[in-house]
Amino acid sequence: MHKTTSVKIKSFFSDCKIDIHKNKNKFEKLLIKKHGALAVDFLKCVDARVDNNTCCDPYPIKNTTLEFANDIAAAFDCPRLEPFFQWIINENFTNCRKFLEIGCDNGLISCFLARELKGSSGIGIDRCKEGIDLARRRASDLKVTNIAFLNDTFDSFSKNNKPGSYDMIFASLVYHEVIQPNPCESVAPTSDYFDGISKLLSEDGFFISVDRFQTPKSLIDFSKFAIASGLKLSLAKSFLLNFVDGFKNKERLVLTVLSKSLKGTPLPSDILSFFDYNAFLESPSAKLINSPVVAESIYRSLTRKETICKVSTTYYKDNVTEDIDIFESEGIFVVYVSSEHGDKSLSIFPLVFLPEYLQNIPAMLDERKTIGSVSVWQNNDLSSLKRLNAI
Ligand SMILES: C[S@@+](CC[C@H](N)C(=O)[O-])C[C@H]1O[C@@H](n2cnc3c(N)ncnc32)[C@H](O)[C@@H]1O
Repeated sequence: MHKTTSVKIKSFFSDCKIDIHKNKNKFEKLLIKKHGALAVDFLKCVDARVDNNTCCDPYPIKNTTLEFANDIAAAFDCPRLEPFFQWIINENFTNCRKFLEIGCDNGLISCFLARELKGSSGIGIDRCKEGIDLARRRASDLKVTNIAFLNDTFDSFSKNNKPGSYDMIFASLVYHEVIQPNPCESVAPTSDYFDGISKLLSEDGFFISVDRFQTPKSLIDFSKFAIASGLKLSLAKSFLLNFVDGFKNKERLVLTVLSKSLKGTPLPSDILSFFDYNAFLESPSAKLINSPVVAESIYRSLTRKETICKVSTTYYKDNVTEDIDIFESEGIFVVYVSSEHGDKSLSIFPLVFLPEYLQNIPAMLDERKTIGSVSVWQNNDLSSLKRLNAI
């Protein structure tokens, strides 16, 4: 990170009275020592949500006092906000007149935006009243005057506001809350979320969303929902926020930039590229993915339409059975192997280099054909089937 940028962000946290130099390993103990029952209730609520998926809303508890909220932010939020704030500074948005932050919580991001997007006026909304009360206090403590806060749900806010009112809309860690089954309430339909954003965004405005996408498939779904509401995802403008969280875990959040005025839509292979595909294109050799999560997610991200042809074979060797699926898809060629022991691997070949690799595949297939059984499945494209038969 550029030194002056880093200093600027650190001084913002310090102006907010957030002490980011805490010993994170002792975080829970220190939190309980300092805040007593409040900390115990908060930690219990978070655990209940994560472990039992029970209804407990942590936001009103977290936002009981600004000091408590700041101590939580020091451990949980500041490490991920640093690369996000750095991106905002680097983008140097000078044309923003009006911005909106959805799910602004206690106003950390909104106040930073208000300081950075000079000449603009902003509004932060959140359904948590306690969060909004603290956000107003934070803005007043920081003497930031170009931001207002409103306690409202996004659904009601978008219904009651004029179309095209905002040229920038921000949402950080909100989409996953809207789409994930929430034991505290019925799930809001995803298309409503994007319909509301599309309505409020000016024609050439940008929607900037930061969220966790555990699989490329979930990013493809996000993009598809957004497209259905007239928004387009710009992968060129989008960004990966890599950071180490307060507990020394490596984390990666996806910052997506969407707009109504962009042309074209990204292909699934473009979206895969955002995760792991670049490495495959850069290197002319095939790569084996041993991570079942990555293998599984790339495998699932291919829809039937995108999968032109599939060959499945079961391979028996040394009392081990392996199922092998071979897919040819737009831009990539995928060999997916799963064994009876649950081991999974996936090789991806950039299609552009395919001829070299095709030479190696007959030997591999021949060996498997002689030992195992082969079944061929096609989705009504005979020409591509012929190509595979010709291997
Ligand atoms: C995980 S927190 C993220 C807070 C903040 N944006 C950040 O990145 O630190 C999600 C926030 O979204 C708010 N929220 C969730 N669904 C909402 C909705 N439908 N309308 C308004 N706020 C919502 C929650 O109250 C919570 O403050």
